[in-house]
Amino acid sequence: MIGRLNHVAIAVPDLAAAAEQYRSTLGATVGAPQDEPDHGVTVIFIELPNTKIELLHPLGDNSPIQGFLEKNPAGGIHHICYEVEDILAARDQLQAKGARILGNGEPKIGAHGKPVLFLHPKDFNGTLVELEQV
Ligand code: CO
Repeated sequence: MIGRLNHVAIAVPDLAAAAEQYRSTLGATVGAPQDEPDHGVTVIFIELPNTKIELLHPLGDNSPIQGFLEKNPAGGIHHICYEVEDILAARDQLQAKGARILGNGEPKIGAHGKPVLFLHPKDFNGTLVELEQV
């Protein structure tokens, strides 16, 4: 069911410093910051030849990233995102096998303007998994 790795998301305490490190130290192509108020994050995408890295920083008072950074002050890998062709079919298939979908189970529009869902990390080896319909 899952297809390509769309991105790996890293929560960072200092977005500008992290972006500069990817640009100047790692020599990557770094995009502009985008505020995602619906998700409580500011994101910067880094384009790699085979996937993307999503740098995440809290936006607003109730950001889901805030608690993660309190537990991981230096930052850390927050989630990985796999592509699926049909997100509702994927959700139904996962739920039928007992996997839990976070939130109300309805896809939200993610950072690329496409529908996304998140799967409970306890059901996937401690890894928060995002599915994005492509
Ligand atoms: Co993501």
